[in-house]
Amino acid sequence: MLSEIGLVGLGVMGKNIALNLSDNGVTIKSFNNSKEKLDDINKEFLNGFIGFTSFDEFVESLESPKTILLMVPSGKATKEVIKRLADLLEEGSVIIDGGNSFYLDSIDNGKYLSKKSINFIGMGVSGGEDGARNGPALMVGSGFSLEAPLINTLKNIAAKSEVECLGIYQGPGTGHFIKMVHNGIEYAEMQTIAEIYLILKNLKKSNMEMSSFFSSQSKNNNSSYLIEITSKILQKSDGDKFVIDQIKSVAQNKGTGKLTIQTSLNLGVSIPSIAAAYDARVQSSNQYSRKISEEQINDDISYTDLSNALYFSRVCSMIQGLELISKFSDDENHNISIVKVLENWSGGCIIRSNLLSELKKEFSKNNNIFNLNNLFENLEKYRVSISKVLQVTTKYNIPTPVLSASLNWFNSVTALNNPSNLIQAQRDFFGRHKVQLIDSSDDINIDWD
Ligand code: 6PG
Repeated sequence: MLSEIGLVGLGVMGKNIALNLSDNGVTIKSFNNSKEKLDDINKEFLNGFIGFTSFDEFVESLESPKTILLMVPSGKATKEVIKRLADLLEEGSVIIDGGNSFYLDSIDNGKYLSKKSINFIGMGVSGGEDGARNGPALMVGSGFSLEAPLINTLKNIAAKSEVECLGIYQGPGTGHFIKMVHNGIEYAEMQTIAEIYLILKNLKKSNMEMSSFFSSQSKNNNSSYLIEITSKILQKSDGDKFVIDQIKSVAQNKGTGKLTIQTSLNLGVSIPSIAAAYDARVQSSNQYSRKISEEQINDDISYTDLSNALYFSRVCSMIQGLELISKFSDDENHNISIVKVLENWSGGCIIRSNLLSELKKEFSKNNNIFNLNNLFENLEKYRVSISKVLQVTTKYNIPTPVLSASLNWFNSVTALNNPSNLIQAQRDFFGRHKVQLIDSSDDINIDWD
């Protein structure tokens, strides 16, 4: 175990991870301009918190080799602190960026620091305030091999499921890449649940009925943290009103979903469920004035079909995210094990669910994302359900961007025939872009006249 860690960033996540470290016997030394803030924070620690108002003295006070954890906003703020530290730290020190940094920034930061012989770790932290305090999922990306005291410290503070939810990956940007994809999947699962909620609303179910639908999902292959909290949210009342009915229908985002989509475009991986979830948030802010009202659903949709649709869409979003990780791993030669990623997410993080252990069984047999025959075969009954659900939502004008994207993605990637032969013909017709004929790898132009 490390005996002490320097911490920059005493916001909600920083403070809670520090309390977690302190519970595990690590002394926290930290910096803040405000003595009052440091004194307030000190009161929350039983022992082992030392605050400094001078940045130089804070860095100086750490024993060598120094380990400093950054929990500051991603982007400019993180870069600035890294620069400031780089001027003060000696060779062999370790900087861990525990913010939601973009993975390309972490690769840059790693390169910049390695020139100064300072070791850099980009670490994704998931689980919100409660996770940071009691056990987050930690996605660690490192360009150097970690010493045992640091690994043990991270193991101790991480969440535990059947394994420690600590993933250690090769490359300073890899931990943040995996955290970014985690967030993309988080967006898709949240929106899938929200669409099922909208369908239930149009089936005229009460909030309490909807809440029990979601709480019963653990029996239907859908046991997940996000579904659990949805059940709790729906039953929360304030006086005689349900809180959910008092909240504006406009969803915000801090940008990690958008970065996942931009990255998928750059890497040539299709993640339509995640993209549709991000778009749904954008659309919630950009509403047109002409309204077409949804109608009360008069057709039968069974709870089983809804559960199956929920499950189907969750599986599709997860596979899309894993395909993105797999492509990144192949491109960068990082040899990322999908099983390890699934274990990493099995506790502490926002997308923890029984689906991860189901998929783990599948990927233990092979690490090839394009060879999921068993899984896809088992999805058949769920596909029938989601098709039924979407026929009804289309009839009654109920928007289902992620459910629809998931089904279309699945149909597309498993289609025996796709119409891209026509696309190739059109490209060659108007632009002489060439086609390949079946059973040939030659690129040829066709004489279309
Ligand atoms: C986590 C979350 C967290 C994320 C927030 C807000 O894993 O703990 O993913 O990192 O930043 O949930 O994200 P949005 O504002 O983009 O919804």
